[in-house]
Amino acid sequence: MRMGQRSRTAEYMALFRALETQRPIEQRLFADPLAASFLTRPLAAAAAVAGLPVLGGLVPLLIDRQIPGPRASAVARTKVLDDAVTAAVAGGIEQLIVLGAGYDSRAYRLPGTQRLRVFEVDHPDTQSVKRRVLEQVLGQLPAHVRFVPVDFDHDDLAAALDHAGLAHGRPSFVLWEGVASYLTSEAVDATVRWASQIAGEGSELALTYVHRGLIEGTVVPARCALGPFRRCRRGAVRVRLRARRTPGLPDRPGMAARRGPLHHRSPTRHGLSLRGVPAFYRIAMARC
Ligand SMILES: C[S@@+](CC[C@H](N)C(=O)[O-])C[C@H]1O[C@@H](n2cnc3c(N)ncnc32)[C@H](O)[C@@H]1O
Repeated sequence: MRMGQRSRTAEYMALFRALETQRPIEQRLFADPLAASFLTRPLAAAAAVAGLPVLGGLVPLLIDRQIPGPRASAVARTKVLDDAVTAAVAGGIEQLIVLGAGYDSRAYRLPGTQRLRVFEVDHPDTQSVKRRVLEQVLGQLPAHVRFVPVDFDHDDLAAALDHAGLAHGRPSFVLWEGVASYLTSEAVDATVRWASQIAGEGSELALTYVHRGLIEGTVVPARCALGPFRRCRRGAVRVRLRARRTPGLPDRPGMAARRGPLHHRSPTRHGLSLRGVPAFYRIAMARC
């Protein structure tokens, strides 16, 4: 992420969700009506073309051909995490903490989230854009959401959330989607430790990550089920991830401070028969 600029990867996530939203109701995995509002040109143009009959279907195909994997993975994990948050809301959580929220719109579209205290934490450069767009589209910022600007590399996450009114020891859902890959291992550990400290009985943590073996080159790509990456893109992906100084996580992260079992979910084993989701995109979940 470049200083002073909104997150480009958050915008790609919004694009992938906007494209899924354009698909026929009986085929799409979810609808995120706000996603397209966060797009700038040329991604906004791509989303608009995707809404056209016949021609529109080519947009996801072209994206998948150019960068195989990320779109399908983004769609799959959005669905898995939508379901996890929805189940947690039904189970009685009181707080939803979205770390590195980007243009995540769960607080505005999932039923029941309006009854929660929601904390959206993100880098100030991206969060200010999100607030502006939400004000334009919704008329005003929803009262149940508190926006907490934090730079994970420099700021004190715990202090910022305490200042924003986070209640400790209450049933909460900590959602950390698409962010761990951009941070150091120490920052990831510290955040998981923080989550275990503030969590009350009935809390959950969900985080997505990239298998460390892909980045370090220690996982044989065939065994890693690279799927569409077989077309000689493995090296390029590895280099790109390294350049982002992503630590990745091992297959079974040894997160010392966790208070419940970590369940590793592959979206394809979650009742989703999605083609093109490489197995190195992972979701880890913990409950206490
Ligand atoms: C790939 S996006 C994911 C956004 C959102 N969770 C989603 O799934 O749509 C990564 C997010 O991490 C945030 N991020 C990256 N580095 C950060 C940092 N050092 N401090 C705060 N946020 C950061 C970006 O602002 C961005 O919103």
